[in-house]
Amino acid sequence: MRILVTGGAGYIGSHTARALLENGHKVWVLDNLSRGHKEAVQRTVGLDRLTIASLHDTDRLVQILTLQEIELVIHLAAFSLVGESQKQPEMYFRNNVGGSQSLISAMHQANVKKLIVSSTTAVYGTPSQMPITESFERAPVNQYGQTKLEMELSLEHAASQNDLAVVALRYFNAAGAHPNGDLGEDHDPETHLIPITLQVALGQREHLTIFGNDYATPDGTCVRDYVHVCDLAAAHICAMDVLRNGTVQYFNIGTGAGTSVSEVLDACRKVSGHPIPSVDGIRRSGDPDILYADNSKAVSELNWSPKYTSIEQIVETAWRWHSDSPNGYRSG
Ligand SMILES: NC(=O)c1ccc[n+]([C@@H]2O[C@H](COP(=O)([O-])OP(=O)(O)OC[C@H]3O[C@@H](n4cnc5c(N)ncnc54)[C@H](O)[C@@H]3O)[C@@H](O)[C@H]2O)c1
Repeated sequence: MRILVTGGAGYIGSHTARALLENGHKVWVLDNLSRGHKEAVQRTVGLDRLTIASLHDTDRLVQILTLQEIELVIHLAAFSLVGESQKQPEMYFRNNVGGSQSLISAMHQANVKKLIVSSTTAVYGTPSQMPITESFERAPVNQYGQTKLEMELSLEHAASQNDLAVVALRYFNAAGAHPNGDLGEDHDPETHLIPITLQVALGQREHLTIFGNDYATPDGTCVRDYVHVCDLAAAHICAMDVLRNGTVQYFNIGTGAGTSVSEVLDACRKVSGHPIPSVDGIRRSGDPDILYADNSKAVSELNWSPKYTSIEQIVETAWRWHSDSPNGYRSG
């Protein structure tokens, strides 16, 4: 299939682009490089398949969709830092909601009917029950989650109006790196637990701060569902088979298991062989105790299942990437 990946220069987008190529698809990337890396595109689809443009440039989107005869769009381009979204909500709404609406309009003009998008566990907010199923109420507790909810609502409207076929994958915590060691996580600022912890092992930070050790979890630290980025990428391939016109279908993409901050730290110590000192900090506001997915809908309907099922396996791939490329894509 001929596929356009928006945000294909980013962390999950680059792994998804590679997985698509490996499955025999023809892939183009659209990214404004505000948060992504040209090098990541060079290592996947190649720079001749990269359009450097913003989602807001609807005419440019129509042009590339038409020129390349795109059949399916995989839409990952967005801003995704919770803290930043609280400080700059307008910027988040403009990028994540306005950008998605521009894409929907361009697809309508170019008569492209298939769309797979990145949504997030943040749309659920802080559910009182675990595991989280797709039927849980959407009740985001931060602006980032709110923008993704608005995107989902825009898609529901567009699917019914334009006969669009949409799958929205609600990712849990993306983690790890490509096992080849040449693609990985490179965010500035980095806010994700595993890269930050490994930066201590690399001497780039003095210690890991654990934000709260009095949560209602077995070891007192927050529990999250870490899903390997290659497993996330594979979910997009599986989703291609279930697209149905006029509908938005939602799937949780997580392992179904929770791992605590302390367990992640232990895995990073073991894999890196570094003692990785930690200090206890205060809780961050709005951090739920436990979040993990019920992934049974993805398993049964998408025929998807995670290949990386232990946190150590995930950390091993991240460690390969971070130790080989301590400055991310700038390492060369
Ligand atoms: N990383 C996670 O754990 C996680 C979890 C749930 C959902 N998500 C979602 O997955 C998607 C990808 O996340 P990621 O971690 O790879 O982020 P990322 O920042 O690494 O990648 C996002 C890419 O989108 C591009 N981009 C942003 N705004 C754009 C615009 N207006 N026009 C064109 N390009 C634009 C950036 O330059 C970047 O390359 C996002 O939609 C995010 O909300 C991520």
